[in-house]
Amino acid sequence: MIDGNQIKKDFPIYRHQPNLVYLDTTATSLKPQQVIDKENEYYTKYSANIFRGIYKISEKATEEYERVREKIAHFIGAKSAGEIVFVRNATEAINLVAAGVGKTLKTGDEIVTTIMEHHSNFVPWQQRALKKHIAYHVSRITSEGKLDEKDLLGKINNKTRMVAFTHVSNVLGTINPVKTLIKKIKAKNPHCLILVDGAQAAAHFKIDVRDLGCDFYVFSSHKMLGPTGVGVLWGRYELLDNMNPYQYGGEMISAVYVDRTEFKDPPHKFEAGTPHIAGVIGLGAAIDYLRVLGMDKVRQHEIEMTSYALKLLRSLKGLKIYGPQNPENRGGVIAFTIERIHAHDIAQILDSNNICIRAGHHCAMPLHLSLDVASTARASFYVYTTKEDIDALVKGLKRVQEIFA
Ligand SMILES: Cc1ncc(COP(=O)(O)O)c(C=O)c1O
Repeated sequence: MIDGNQIKKDFPIYRHQPNLVYLDTTATSLKPQQVIDKENEYYTKYSANIFRGIYKISEKATEEYERVREKIAHFIGAKSAGEIVFVRNATEAINLVAAGVGKTLKTGDEIVTTIMEHHSNFVPWQQRALKKHIAYHVSRITSEGKLDEKDLLGKINNKTRMVAFTHVSNVLGTINPVKTLIKKIKAKNPHCLILVDGAQAAAHFKIDVRDLGCDFYVFSSHKMLGPTGVGVLWGRYELLDNMNPYQYGGEMISAVYVDRTEFKDPPHKFEAGTPHIAGVIGLGAAIDYLRVLGMDKVRQHEIEMTSYALKLLRSLKGLKIYGPQNPENRGGVIAFTIERIHAHDIAQILDSNNICIRAGHHCAMPLHLSLDVASTARASFYVYTTKEDIDALVKGLKRVQEIFA
């Protein structure tokens, strides 16, 4: 069992903000001392550029950086570290694939995504489709906020080249049945490529990309206790090998001549220029932190917090919760509206009590339009969340209701 109060001691922000009730991990997670120390270690002890130096501190930095690639490969069940590409965030990982796969798309091909996507997994595909005049299909959700599987599968045919969908919705919390869905999609078209957006999943339960059966999987360091400015793209090696580089420059080449360039093998051919070395090394410490906690325990704690919050929130008059009602089918995020009160007013009043939640469309405008709401309020939970945090949220919401009564 995870004890959120115990965990809080590892997060220095709680010392500096003793009354903080942080319920916005879906936007970004807090950082434990171990991650901050590891980043600091790079800057203070071996702050050199990687790959380039034939001197000890550069070799040490390179070793630390590449070790994280191996850690991540192990963490998500990749075949090898060669399948792990470091980018800036999940958004860049998706854009990289959209650019790589997009180059090979032609009129008549089709792309399928879903209405529950974050803009990061929606706009890159939409724009590719618009540019290439190819069909872009957006699958519906059910009234309970789950993917409408029948609708999605109905959109797959022999022209489908790319299917992109999220593992966990950042608004509805819905955990999509990725493995079974991929099996069904590939049964209809074994040649289409599938990208899974794991931005809200990789930090919350055990991921095994090979078991899931997808072709690409992406996530962000900053949502999993790690530094901002680092994202991860996992892709099947042969796919990465066949994809063109995303950007050109130093370190991604093996030889440059006046009239041509030879590129390195994946993953390095996708990492042009000096990367966020400290960030990647810090991400390694975040992975270690999660591994010590145990991903099963992380998930258990999230279910416990979500169940508790759902129960209390349901008791508030006029409050509507979006997404699946069973906590086993959702991640630790709850979007809600309160009758006649704007989500921004809710968030602002809560902030006056140091309670941090998010309000707006959460970069999921098509979803909000389909739900016929302009904005929702959203509270999200993680390893440092306690029942006391949720009690504070509920107390704060009662105060909001009193103010607007
Ligand atoms: C489901 C989902 N996908 C993608 C992203 C984009 O992540 P980033 O901003 O780190 O690129 C987010 C961010 O909130 C998200 O929730």
